[in-house]
Amino acid sequence: MQKPKIVAIYGSPRRTGNTAALLKKAVEGARGYGAQIEEIVLRDLKISPCLEIYGCTQSGECAIKDDFQKVRDKIMDSQGLMLASPVFFYSVSSHTKILMDRFQSLWVKKNWVQKSTKNQQGIKRKGLLISVGATRGKKLFDGMLLSVRYFFDVLDMELWKALLYRKLDFQDDVLKHPEYLEEAYTTGKAFAQAIEKDFNG
Ligand SMILES: Cc1cc2nc3c(=O)[nH]c(=O)nc-3n(C[C@H](O)[C@H](O)[C@H](O)COP(=O)(O)O)c2cc1C
Repeated sequence: MQKPKIVAIYGSPRRTGNTAALLKKAVEGARGYGAQIEEIVLRDLKISPCLEIYGCTQSGECAIKDDFQKVRDKIMDSQGLMLASPVFFYSVSSHTKILMDRFQSLWVKKNWVQKSTKNQQGIKRKGLLISVGATRGKKLFDGMLLSVRYFFDVLDMELWKALLYRKLDFQDDVLKHPEYLEEAYTTGKAFAQAIEKDFNG
């Protein structure tokens, strides 16, 4: 049986902050289930913002050559994505947004160049969003959820689940909530299981 292939993206500029700790737990849970996980720390990569030159209209390939292609290929080769980003001004972090915008080349490929971006089996990928914010307002995650849903759509991905935690601000705040870390672990495991069920029947 094929192991679920998952990409885990650390989208915070803080290497060991709240979203990183939660994602690490989700990765542990999925690995424990037997998933093959590729971890990507965006702050370690060189990815330019989209320059809106639309070089991608020729073939759907982004004209800017940097670490984006590496990340894109890994996601395209995967069946699931765990995306972790803190709330920054009611949206995703800049690192995450830069990556999302570069996927406009894929949108162009799908909509203008007309090539399928589905994974090899033709099944929708699954996405798990992990986010935290310092405040506790009802609408704290609304902006992020809208952006992420649309981004996942471009990746032929459904938002399988979102783990969203309020009132976490300082670097280690999440450590005061072992129940959040436990939830991330069990969710990571369930995520791998759900992917395996979809892809292996
Ligand atoms: C640039 C910036 C913008 C932020 N914007 C918000 C915000 O709009 N709402 C909020 O509740 N917290 C906001 N925060 C706080 C972070 O979401 C919070 O510190 C979070 O715990 C950081 O997660 P991390 O440790 O994974 O980086 C902001 C922090 C920064 C640095």
